[in-house]
Amino acid sequence: MCGIVGYIGHRNAVPLVLDGLQRLEYRGYDSAGVAVIHEGQIKIRRDVGKLINLRNKVESGPIEGTIGIGHTRWATHGEPSERNAHPHVSMNGDFVVVHNGIVENYLELKRELTSEGVTFESDTDTEVIVQLIAHHAQHHTNGDMVEATRQTALRLRGAQAIVVVNKHTPDRLIAVRIGNAGGVALGIGNGENFVASDIPAILEYTRKMIFLDHADMAVVTADSYHIQTLQGEPVDAEIHEIDWDSVSAGRGEFQHFMQKEIFEQARAVTDTMGGRVDFEKGDILLKELNLDEALAKRISKIVITACGTSYYSGLVGKFFFEQLARVNTEVEYASEYRYRNPILDENTIVLAITQSGETADTLAAVAEARKRGAMMWSVVNAIGSAAMRTADGYVLMNAGPEIGVASTKAFTTSLVNQLMIALRLGQLRGTISAEQSVFFAQQLSQLPRLIGQVLEFEDQIKALATVFHNYKDFLFLGRGINYPIALEGALKLKEISYIHAEGYPAGEMKHGPIALIDEDMPVLAIAIQDDLYEKMISQIEQAKARNGIVIAVATEGDTFIQSKADHVLYVPAMNSFLSPIVSLASFELIISIIVSGSFL
Ligand code: F6R
Repeated sequence: MCGIVGYIGHRNAVPLVLDGLQRLEYRGYDSAGVAVIHEGQIKIRRDVGKLINLRNKVESGPIEGTIGIGHTRWATHGEPSERNAHPHVSMNGDFVVVHNGIVENYLELKRELTSEGVTFESDTDTEVIVQLIAHHAQHHTNGDMVEATRQTALRLRGAQAIVVVNKHTPDRLIAVRIGNAGGVALGIGNGENFVASDIPAILEYTRKMIFLDHADMAVVTADSYHIQTLQGEPVDAEIHEIDWDSVSAGRGEFQHFMQKEIFEQARAVTDTMGGRVDFEKGDILLKELNLDEALAKRISKIVITACGTSYYSGLVGKFFFEQLARVNTEVEYASEYRYRNPILDENTIVLAITQSGETADTLAAVAEARKRGAMMWSVVNAIGSAAMRTADGYVLMNAGPEIGVASTKAFTTSLVNQLMIALRLGQLRGTISAEQSVFFAQQLSQLPRLIGQVLEFEDQIKALATVFHNYKDFLFLGRGINYPIALEGALKLKEISYIHAEGYPAGEMKHGPIALIDEDMPVLAIAIQDDLYEKMISQIEQAKARNGIVIAVATEGDTFIQSKADHVLYVPAMNSFLSPIVSLASFELIISIIVSGSFL
């Protein structure tokens, strides 16, 4: 991940691509690169750090060409270095690729290619893509670039956005979108065309945009484009005219910012793991946290303090810290904690979770804790905010700006951040073995795809929204690691739609709230197949006994639940540590659809 820009036309691509990347700088990155084709050769410039380094390189060693691709990268596989920066070139020097996403099966593909004699220059998963395209072109498609790209795309597991260019056919580039690793926009110009991961990159050149759908592939020349599915079916794509005002421009293909941000979550979690998770070895690198083995072993307690959505994120984090690092963890409303007389010492970490990094109650709570000798960490989205500046250690969410009123991708990324901190703590404290580290890192690599898969159920969720949009009260239930998601689901519905909603740990129902349930108060219950599945089934039965209408979020393939719940929203099967992150996406989607009335 992170930003992609491509150009084909009559102008020199290099300045256009570099300017496009500059407009994506807000997303963050650790290295950047650009490639063009000139006189039948691929020319590349790449560098670590800020774009200015790349610009300087291009200035001292100029390249030019009327077809070019560029990329800003958050490292996901391999350290940030020139060698690992995109674009990546195939061993035979024919193809060059930029890519956003995580190739979940890259090790398997790399082994396969290595056994066929392919040698790799980088540690990235992206290089597997370009080598595989070249391999298919050479051995299976008789040099046909479109077919080689299509066959390669069909073999990739995970959510991806890819742009590929071939030095033998410099009159075209190919863009592919698989899953929801972020969008791919085609910008339609006059005798020139553009591609970008984000429309601000190319908005200066054209307002006519096409957004590729999941599993679409576009073959783009200077004055044409052809879109087909990866199965080879032609796609008649709609051209969107992006309005001149900056709000419409920022919203792009989405109806409102919340919807956009919900759909950005798969990409946001990829960016938050970028440069931090070694998916092969299981190492977790959190430089700014300033955590070493001595500190990890000394910590006797973590107190998470936060407000609103960030507080609910902390409730999930408690499970991560206790289960994986075996550290006693408390979660406190910052607005209450700041007025308490808490018991703390120098072995306590107070962890502030805050998207803005400026929430007054949260800042006051951590200040109070520090006065009493505790150390402060923060999980924060806004770079340079008070919660980042004043912390002894911090982890940035890298979620990008949140414009929608409700926090969505910041919540998701803060969960991933806490999971990474808990894994690092567990590694240093010896509560997680090397094998478990690799296992969890591999689970994390699946997260963008899993979130993306939920978002693909939008049509099914729209159908549900038509049934429920007139109800005035909702109840959200969950258990274990998913009970905070019930609280968060209820908060989101209240905040966005002004519809009354309550969230409860399902086991609490029998202690009073069950009295609320009747046919006018639909119950949304997370009942995925984990250790507490049977308990949830029994709670669903109790709701049904009170004439409740139950919508269950369940594991794909669970047909039994259809006999218990009135409606079922399926999510993919996954490790239970990931389930809060994925389950919430389905709640967010249903809420955003109810609110926008986009089903009408
Ligand atoms: C809900 C929401 C709020 C914030 C809360 C804390 O969608 O956005 O509940 O989570 O105000 O804000 P931060 O995380 O900026 O401290």
